[in-house]
Amino acid sequence: MAISIQNILITGANRGIGLALVEQYLSQSDTRVYATCRNPEGAVALNALAQADPENLQILQLDVNDEASIERAVNAIAGEIDSLDVLINNAGISGGDGARDMGQLSAAEVATVVTTNAVAPLIVTQCCRELLQNGDNPRAVMISSGLGSLARAGGNAYAYRMSKAAMNMAARVLAFDDAMAGITSVTLAPGWVRTDMGGPSANLAPEESARALLGVIERLVAADNGRFYRYDGEELDW
Ligand SMILES: NC(=O)c1ccc[n+]([C@@H]2O[C@H](COP(=O)([O-])OP(=O)(O)OC[C@H]3O[C@@H](n4cnc5c(N)ncnc54)[C@H](OP(=O)(O)O)[C@@H]3O)[C@@H](O)[C@H]2O)c1
Repeated sequence: MAISIQNILITGANRGIGLALVEQYLSQSDTRVYATCRNPEGAVALNALAQADPENLQILQLDVNDEASIERAVNAIAGEIDSLDVLINNAGISGGDGARDMGQLSAAEVATVVTTNAVAPLIVTQCCRELLQNGDNPRAVMISSGLGSLARAGGNAYAYRMSKAAMNMAARVLAFDDAMAGITSVTLAPGWVRTDMGGPSANLAPEESARALLGVIERLVAADNGRFYRYDGEELDW
């Protein structure tokens, strides 16, 4: 009997949670990963994984803020396979002082964070829509954050919180959109994770978060469409 292969696309896959997700998915025998990043030549860890498992891991250049690069990467995938089962919009930034702190806010810096974290994943999802609609139990996943929850708002990190709230809304709209019929759209919060973004004091190792996220993603069904879950499966307030 032929084993059915699951095809996964992950953005921002060269470090942090994205890289850990690639590692976790590669440890499953039935998964082919399309790992995308801005600078494949500099993606040392990702290239090492691809050398060890060239059958199941392909690296593609994709800057989420560059629509031409999104189209190139998706067209390259469509030239090889006709379906994607999981899209993980993981790439993201937190921004510097000008995106964070009252008195120092810069419109350009805030806009860059919102564009990268909210607009770009929507466009990536749009580009992957047809491949996803051919997929098996297709899932479009936004890696968001508890900081994007309006119910849990706090007095800091303006651009990041705004961007993740907008990302959450994008995932909700995708869930209701007839043009996305058949695709389960969810928002996931990975926890506080020891990456360049999360910093060294965070309570989760990237592999812990990624393993738990993979478990949630693998259990998703159509009834989860439009939901917001933490990495451990707990449902979160918007
Ligand atoms: N760490 C946490 O505690 C935490 C908590 C909640 C949510 N999250 C979310 O989890 C996701 C991953 O975060 P992380 O902690 O792994 O962060 P990270 O270590 O800073 O990694 C961020 C990744 O996003 C990529 N990226 C940034 N801008 C990009 C662009 N324009 N195009 C393509 N890739 C881009 C980076 O690529 P380069 O190497 O090229 O910069 C890198 O691969 C983010 O969406 C983040 O908001 C993280």
